[in-house]
Amino acid sequence: MRLLGIETSCDETAAAVLEGTTALRSSVVASQVDLHARYGGVVPELASRRHLERLGPVIDEALDRAGTSLGQIDALAVTCGPGLVGALTVGVAAAKALAFAAGIPLVGVNHLEGHIYANFLEQPALPFPAIVLIVSGAHTDLVAMTGHGRYEILGRTRDDAAGEAFDKAARALGLGYPGGPAIDRAARAGRADAVALPLPFPDETSFDFSFSGLKTAVLRAVARLSGGEPPAEAAWVADVAAAFQEALVEVLVQKTARAARARRARCILLAGGVAANSRLRSRMAEAAADLGVPLQMPRLSLCTDNAGMIAAAGAYRLARGERSSLRLGAYADLDLSRPVPETVRTDPA
Ligand code: KG4
Ligand code: ZN
Repeated sequence: MRLLGIETSCDETAAAVLEGTTALRSSVVASQVDLHARYGGVVPELASRRHLERLGPVIDEALDRAGTSLGQIDALAVTCGPGLVGALTVGVAAAKALAFAAGIPLVGVNHLEGHIYANFLEQPALPFPAIVLIVSGAHTDLVAMTGHGRYEILGRTRDDAAGEAFDKAARALGLGYPGGPAIDRAARAGRADAVALPLPFPDETSFDFSFSGLKTAVLRAVARLSGGEPPAEAAWVADVAAAFQEALVEVLVQKTARAARARRARCILLAGGVAANSRLRSRMAEAAADLGVPLQMPRLSLCTDNAGMIAAAGAYRLARGERSSLRLGAYADLDLSRPVPETVRTDPA
């Protein structure tokens, strides 16, 4: 089974060719960072228009690099939500048109399930139950995965997502957009204990997260130092970046470890753009080693948005006999624990 995956849920236009469930033949990601950087965040209308311009060439390049053509593709997987509706619509419309024209099956994929399957792309034999920490620009979910496609949400953020908190703190510190990688870099030169910041919602009775208090603490510190203007002292910025990252990562790790213990998890998975964070990766590795539970995290290029992970999630759904009707739409909100709309069942492929 050779799949073409398409991803346009936010600010990356991406296409990938996957053979089976693990052989990624190509993965092309056209980033829109340059387009949105001057606004300090993604502008939905601009994102949709850029997807429209780029998607055709990105698909052609993915097919080319894989040494294949549309006529040799067996099925199409496309992100249908959650995300920006205008952006998602570009990918979904293209996928439906290509599937119809080529007469091949289409499968709509939940973007968060895609992030999770970046792990299975690299390691298909992961044991269940798994505890998955999904940390992206728009989501922070702690999930018990009991089998392929089976999810129970244990906790989620009550306000900002982890990536959003990184982006907002980076903006306040004058580190630019996207903020996660910038804080990750700046923090290396800083001392986390030089500045006192609160642990964000460490409550031991809840698997939910809350990062707005930590973000506000950073904004207040910047206001005190420089009246809210991005501070000029690089050493101070590095210390605050390190303290912010340390506090946020600490709570992500503590709650994930607690969930893994409570659910007797056989492995821990990291997923989403923030899974690229170097401190989160090293602290989670220590915690998993202490628990004696294996940790799987995607390689860096598969943490942030890409179409390889969408193709992987789609491959597993197709193998279970699922596909989408051509009524598939674009859905701003899509719950991981519910079936993707317009799913039809066929005999397993
Ligand atoms: O999963 P993703 O690419 O897009 C969404 O589905 O939202 O995640 C993007 C988020 C952004 O907030 C970005 O700042 C964050 O992931 N991110 C990071 C790092 N790399 C990307 N956050 C912390 N450290 C990083 N190294
Ligand atoms: Zn994402």
